Amino acid sequence: MRLKNCYNTQDFRKLARQRLPAPLFHYIDGGADDEVTMHRNTAAFETVDLVPRVLAGVESVDLSVQVLGQQLQLPLFFSPTAMQRLFHQEGERAIAQAAAQFGTLFGVSTIGTRSIEELGRCGSPKLFQIYIHKDPALNRDLVERCRDAGFDALALTVDTIVAGNRERDYLTGMTAPPKLTLKSLMSFALHPRWTLAYLMGKTFDLPNVSKYVRQGSDVAASVVDYMNNQLSRRIDWDDAARLIEDWQGPFAIKGVMSVADARMAVQVGASAIMISNHGGRQLDGSRAPFDQLQTIVDAVGDDIEVILDGGVRRGTHVLKALAMGATACSGGRMYLYALAGAGTAGVMRAMTLLRDEMERDMLLMGCAKVADLNRSMLAQR
Ligand code: FNR
Ligand code: LAC
Repeated sequence: MRLKNCYNTQDFRKLARQRLPAPLFHYIDGGADDEVTMHRNTAAFETVDLVPRVLAGVESVDLSVQVLGQQLQLPLFFSPTAMQRLFHQEGERAIAQAAAQFGTLFGVSTIGTRSIEELGRCGSPKLFQIYIHKDPALNRDLVERCRDAGFDALALTVDTIVAGNRERDYLTGMTAPPKLTLKSLMSFALHPRWTLAYLMGKTFDLPNVSKYVRQGSDVAASVVDYMNNQLSRRIDWDDAARLIEDWQGPFAIKGVMSVADARMAVQVGASAIMISNHGGRQLDGSRAPFDQLQTIVDAVGDDIEVILDGGVRRGTHVLKALAMGATACSGGRMYLYALAGAGTAGVMRAMTLLRDEMERDMLLMGCAKVADLNRSMLAQR
């Protein structure tokens, strides 16, 4: 597989599989337990069909939406994902560049591999994703640094108080920084291009937390161990409310799946919820975001922005979510495979294809702007 032959997310997945040592490919590609939820997240979009309008006199399409106080040129943005420099040395810089180019929101993970300060200087709208750690000093530090660096919004991730059961990671021995073990050695040797770039590149660390946490920077740790050792389990709605009060700006709660919690998010003053099951990496057997979208929009859609996170692989998936009433969509693997496969050029190509798909499909739907999409254009199977 070569970049110029990649036309969809599945193609980028194949490219990533070729380029990455097995522990890293499976870290991106895998989910929890039997991966039922991970697959359902995408399959759920096939439960409704688009019903287009014709002879609508539509010549051009405006895909812009308003999300977390930002005018985005696309109704699709980059969900925060960890450790991007492990996938490609350009790491978060590639995503920052693509977000600026496409005028969309760049989600930065707490356990990202470029600093809040460096990414604060990038030209796109920026959201920082917070993991509440056990160490309160680290939590305060993250918020202060985001404020100083000019981040536009925060997202609090609430579905990782314990790590999901990532069996592929156990099997491959995935850690960050990567450990050369008997298990992984062969796979690093078989991917000399990646291994050379990794060894020649900037030393791996997690610059947003490394002052407080050695795991993931000086000490190799699996993501499961990191979550279980470092993240706070007892976080509750009061913590969310305090963080919102402290931040005083656009704020999303990421990982809401129930109507009851969507209502709580409204009550504590969040600006948005991200309906998400963490890409099927946490609670397997949980419902897909798209399956929950309609009831959540009906309950809180007038009071809070509703972002559909996860499973998006095609432009039509985004159009279905928007027609159902989502404010916008976000995704991880749709750009991570491309990053792993070909760095900035890969992400640019993946996003160009997705944007072109959304534009073409809006025309085929007879819609000139996102607000023209509505439930009359969806039919249940
Ligand atoms: C993630 N996700 C994630 N979420 C988060 O809040 N903080 C993080 O650090 C990460 N890290 C991370 C790494 C990798 C490799 C993946 C695949 C995902 C979850 C992410 O933000 C998003 O919710 C899912 O990726 C959505 O599912 P799709 O789009 O990958 O199907
Ligand atoms: C993951 C974490 C880091 O899903 O959010 O791997």
